[in-house]
Amino acid sequence: MKVELQGVPETLLWNLYHRAAEARRPDSLLHDPRAVELVETIDFPFLQRFGPAGFGQWQALRALRFDAAVRAFLARHPHGSVVALGEGLETQFWRVDNGTVRWLTVELPEIVALRRALLPCDGPRLSLLGCSALDPSWMDHADPSRGLLLTAQGLLMYFQPSEVHLLIAACAGRFPGASFILDGVPPWFSRRTLGGGIQTSQGYRTPPMPWGLDSAEMRVLRQLHPRILDVRRLPPARGRGFFFGALAPLLQRTPGLRNLPFTGLPAGEIRFRPA
Ligand SMILES: C[S@@+](CC[C@H](N)C(=O)[O-])C[C@H]1O[C@@H](n2cnc3c(N)ncnc32)[C@H](O)[C@@H]1O
Repeated sequence: MKVELQGVPETLLWNLYHRAAEARRPDSLLHDPRAVELVETIDFPFLQRFGPAGFGQWQALRALRFDAAVRAFLARHPHGSVVALGEGLETQFWRVDNGTVRWLTVELPEIVALRRALLPCDGPRLSLLGCSALDPSWMDHADPSRGLLLTAQGLLMYFQPSEVHLLIAACAGRFPGASFILDGVPPWFSRRTLGGGIQTSQGYRTPPMPWGLDSAEMRVLRQLHPRILDVRRLPPARGRGFFFGALAPLLQRTPGLRNLPFTGLPAGEIRFRPA
């Protein structure tokens, strides 16, 4: 199936490409056969566009960190709901499914159409909504009755800071007791993208990323709404080899050194107070 995407939607293919590269390895950290199938099914010049998949482990660790947070939520709320904002072609549902979770994908309509065409999305526990994450009407489709987790992996950096703040404050007001997990790029990296993105050595140019996340921004998030109970960093997942197995997790835990994006992106969990 031929896939042509531009701008922010195209970034989902970068993530998928690298995740699948890791999943293909015999010593893979991430069991994700659907990601591998997707890359094999999609007619897109991954190699020419993005170059060799050198970020496989990095991307897998990013996904594993979100998986750990979703699994922890499902351990507490086995019948709970996950709302995945800007899910792209993430295959997380199939990695973490406990048999009872209900899953809502909120994506741009063209990506919802792509997910429907490429993934088995018709189960009773899976729903897709073609709607911007910035349009609060998606909130009418989220069911908080048995526990609710909102996720935004690789999404919020593409929004303006004011948009991120409004979205989080609206979720805090609307979903007492829920949690929101997210990641971002460090603010210094965000600033570097503002002049039209960053060009990789392969010639691919990222979109601008106007929102940055660091400890100071986490304190700003904490103040966005009286229902925000706390904001904590998600612990990094441990990888293979000296760098991702020992050094990167250590750097990520070290204030002042944790904002080096090659060790992994800052990620956090915002908990909303119960009603
Ligand atoms: C870097 S990709 C991340 C995809 C996926 N979460 C992952 O980690 O592989 C960014 C995604 O954000 C989606 N996106 C961009 N703007 C959006 C919006 N306003 N509402 C919902 N999704 C959006 C894009 O379509 C794309 O799938």
